[in-house]
Amino acid sequence: MLGIESSCDETGVALVRGSQLLGHAVASSVDEHVRFGGVVPEIASRAHLEALLPTTRRACEEAGVTLADVDAVAVTAGPGLAGALLVGVAAAKALALALDVPLLGVNHLVAHVAVDVLVSGALPERSVALLVSGGHTELLDVRSPGRQGSQGVGAMRVELLGQTLDDAAGEAFDKVARLLGLPYPGGPHVQRAAESGDPAAFPFPRGLTAAHDLRRHPYDFSFSGLKTAVARQVDAHRRAGGELDERFVADVAASFSEAVADVLARKTVTAALDRGVQTVLLGGGVAANARVRGLLAERCEAAGLDLRVPPLRLCTDNGAMVAALGALALADGLGPSPLELATDPGLPV
Ligand code: KG4
Ligand code: ZN
Repeated sequence: MLGIESSCDETGVALVRGSQLLGHAVASSVDEHVRFGGVVPEIASRAHLEALLPTTRRACEEAGVTLADVDAVAVTAGPGLAGALLVGVAAAKALALALDVPLLGVNHLVAHVAVDVLVSGALPERSVALLVSGGHTELLDVRSPGRQGSQGVGAMRVELLGQTLDDAAGEAFDKVARLLGLPYPGGPHVQRAAESGDPAAFPFPRGLTAAHDLRRHPYDFSFSGLKTAVARQVDAHRRAGGELDERFVADVAASFSEAVADVLARKTVTAALDRGVQTVLLGGGVAANARVRGLLAERCEAAGLDLRVPPLRLCTDNGAMVAALGALALADGLGPSPLELATDPGLPV
């Protein structure tokens, strides 16, 4: 199974056989977006167009196969940036047609969950997944029943438990980085700054965790209030004549990261306990954050839950997750998709 991912700024291509990752390659256009402080859709689409063939070649080389060995092609059909999705889907259709093999359109969010089979084998019958990236923040209920003889993704049902009502978690990291004068993408810079900061320096708000919010939005997230609180803190500091010196930036970064990690961990563990599941999956670029991973691991352990986190290169957008889901779906008798397969930027789980 060849998998193609192009929903945002990463062009990912991978080859898998069943749940074995044979090879994968990722090209990112992130450097081209830096001076705009965020992903510019047109630039991303053009970059996918340029990167797709070289990335496919690299993935085949790493896997030690040629295109003639490909039995099926899976591609992200949504959600994502409209133009970016179109490039990947057009390439996948062309390959499927030329190689005369089945085409499978897959859901990007479900693929983030499915990638775990490449690392830890078949998914447990039930789990809760937290997806946190620059574009999405979702809490998912994952059911993978009846795995007798199959990998179970055909029967896999993913239900949206909650999501962000405003900014995605990674977007919050990027916006706070900008407030602190740190480069884009902000996550890694905020993490580095936070290392020498005091996480208790500023009592930043934990969005949607007050009792009345929890009743209406038990599993939803909100990060815009937190971002505003950081902006106010920076303003107040400046008005008092303070500089954005290392100490201040470190304390804000640490306190902000603590607030994000606390809310993510709290709601994820609550969801797992409420749903009576044993396993928590973590995915998305923000899984790279040491505090997010660390606090989630701590709270999962305290609650007796198992936490599965794929290696970071498989947490961020990549072709392997798409190929993994495609292979599982095909093995379970799903698909193929018609060659008229449409992209859907707002595809729900
Ligand atoms: O999954 P990803 O590579 O792309 C999508 O957005 O789909 O995630 C990128 C996001 C960015 O917002 C970036 O700032 C954030 O993940 N990120 C981090 C860290 N590394 C990447 N956020 C916090 N801490 C990090 N170490
Ligand atoms: Zn993603």
